[in-house]
Amino acid sequence: MSISYNKDTKIFKLDTKENSYVFMVTEFGYLAHLYYGKYLQTDDLAYSLQLDDISLSPNPAGATDRTFSLDVIPSEYSLYGRGDFRESSIMVEQEDGSRVVDLTYKEHTIYSGKMKPEGLPATFSKEENDCATLDVVLEDEVSGLLVHLFYSVFPDSDVITRYVKVENHGADTVALKRVMSLCMDFDRCDFDFIHLHGAWARERHMERTPLIHGKQQIDSIRGVSSAQHNPFVALAERGATEEYGAVYAFNFIYSGNFLAEAEVNQLDTTRFIMGIHPMDFSWELQPGSRFETPEVVMVYSDRGFTRMTHVFHDFYRNHLISPKWVNRKRPILINNWEATYFDFDDEKLLEIARNAKNMGVEMLVMDDGWFGERNDDFTSLGDWFVNEKKIKCGLKRLVEQINEIGLSFGIWFEPEMVSPGSELHKKHPEWCVQTRNRSMSTSRSQYVLDMSREDVIDYIYTSMEAILSSAHIEYVKWDMNRNLTETWSALLPAHRQGEFWHRYVLGVYALYERLLARFPEILIEGCASGGARFDPGILYYSPQIWTSDDTDAIERLKIQYGTSLVYPVSAMGAHVSACPNHQTGRITPLKTRGIVALNGTFGYELDPLNIPEEDKDIVKIQIADYHKYHDLIAQGDLYRLLSPFDSSDHSATEYVSKDKKEVLVQYVRILAKPNNSYVRLRLKGLKKELYYRMEETGNVYSGDVLMNVGLNIPRNCKDFEAVQFYLTAV
Ligand code: DGJ
Repeated sequence: MSISYNKDTKIFKLDTKENSYVFMVTEFGYLAHLYYGKYLQTDDLAYSLQLDDISLSPNPAGATDRTFSLDVIPSEYSLYGRGDFRESSIMVEQEDGSRVVDLTYKEHTIYSGKMKPEGLPATFSKEENDCATLDVVLEDEVSGLLVHLFYSVFPDSDVITRYVKVENHGADTVALKRVMSLCMDFDRCDFDFIHLHGAWARERHMERTPLIHGKQQIDSIRGVSSAQHNPFVALAERGATEEYGAVYAFNFIYSGNFLAEAEVNQLDTTRFIMGIHPMDFSWELQPGSRFETPEVVMVYSDRGFTRMTHVFHDFYRNHLISPKWVNRKRPILINNWEATYFDFDDEKLLEIARNAKNMGVEMLVMDDGWFGERNDDFTSLGDWFVNEKKIKCGLKRLVEQINEIGLSFGIWFEPEMVSPGSELHKKHPEWCVQTRNRSMSTSRSQYVLDMSREDVIDYIYTSMEAILSSAHIEYVKWDMNRNLTETWSALLPAHRQGEFWHRYVLGVYALYERLLARFPEILIEGCASGGARFDPGILYYSPQIWTSDDTDAIERLKIQYGTSLVYPVSAMGAHVSACPNHQTGRITPLKTRGIVALNGTFGYELDPLNIPEEDKDIVKIQIADYHKYHDLIAQGDLYRLLSPFDSSDHSATEYVSKDKKEVLVQYVRILAKPNNSYVRLRLKGLKKELYYRMEETGNVYSGDVLMNVGLNIPRNCKDFEAVQFYLTAV
């Protein structure tokens, strides 16, 4: 078993193939974190817990000297009100208004496999013995609260996940005010804080700043995980690179408000916490009830960011993304959004389909604008019935005709929204998220439905079910285009309004569950104004997520680079669009757009009628490339060779198959300079003793030459030009 407990020393040790995680039950029953890092042969680490008399740090009642203080010991789950002045993991308001909870070790169990927090997406065990779980139970005798800390260890994946369950075994009702999924203390602070920040159309840009004393946090209080901050943080040793240095990475399997925070204290130690954002959160726990948090995935790499990425990608491909889809080749789709926006009808769609079929496209996705009176973004959300002024032949017949052309069919929904003045809004104004006696803000001229209500979920489910069962629909694009304001729910009593945000997310997940249970074969692509809800929670349901509304190949370099740190390439929606690009006005070669879009689930977002005759051969090559490189890109190992964040010169990526016999190298020149420097790409991850033949030139190189000397990039590469090399072992 990869989890052990030493009764004599009261030390828990969790082992993966390459890592160990160690903590202990201390005097007074508190849990102290001892170690997370490279694999250790021993659990004998009690010596490392240094207890000293630190001035002004409180000692628990009954302490015989001044050396034991929660303010100092590295905690597994930090407490509020008992002298630990760093960030608390949990805060509970009891009936008398008191907020102290004193959680000490009660018992534990170790078992094979893992549980899943109720109603939430989570990682799963696939085979017997691929995962073991430790459930440590902490107790607060006064309130009767039990807190379960769950640690699931995936030895072969080098991953540990954590989540928490709080049970009220007391006689009083309490209010949870904060309940983090993870707390991790480090005995050092020489870390860089790495995260993925952004905005609409500029999602998941990598940022790196050194930790300083005090708190550094990223969060979302928008109701979605957000384009502004992805629920991912890595704490990397200063100087860590793609290949060197220690990196601790954390990713939160949740699609709503979150907080991730690193705090450096007076003793130069670091506390990292991650969980549901405590801002405006509370949860009533009546006697006998429980609350379960979303799960955090933890990855430790002693070999920089590349190893971290490989662990995340493999882990998500094996233990998070639906096994049904993860390795399945997704259809090359054409989406009519940038081709037509709202201005389309059945004939236009059929024309697109016919031309797309000739290109080699496999699916047509009918985007926003097919329902109600929707001819712009001011109207009709919630009215999920076909607009027969536009789809004159009816949906069933349209899909039949698309199928006859030889394409499958997908459709767009924005299930969580309602437009002012829509039929749904007129009928159920009370279903909007709103605060009584206050006006409602609009955003993209729309309101949000109260997804915490079962009747709302029922309505959306029923209307989507009717559409999806009315025709042969094989794909849904689930969009979400605004953040939440004036949050309040008519069905929750005043003292439970703090439950709204989390109940909203639970409602979204419940709708996903229902739809997928009814239509298990439908592929749902997640989307939120592009990539504003690109998180592991959505990935659990949607094996692919629209990465960004920005389809400009050059902007995509940064967006896809940042996203690739954590999320597998098979999850990233990426399309070739028309030029000048609709978001940036930039003109880039079609070849470059194709190479960049290969780094994701490939498709087109343009009117094929407007593809110039001379470009049609390039499209044919792109489609052939997608088929040829699909398995290598979707299932191989990704290496980031040149970062677009390091300079505005270029970006380069490499994929290596697991057997190391196939290699794809992509180089994109961003801006050329007069008298360009030489660029030689040193490849990574090859077998040094193998010989590789480059398809483009027929030249053969040994693995060690490719890795140590490298491949020359043509010096005259112009602005936005891309080159691609494919090598196979001979
Ligand atoms: C935002 C999405 O990201 C776009 O791709 C498109 O579907 C629009 N919404 C439609 O309103």
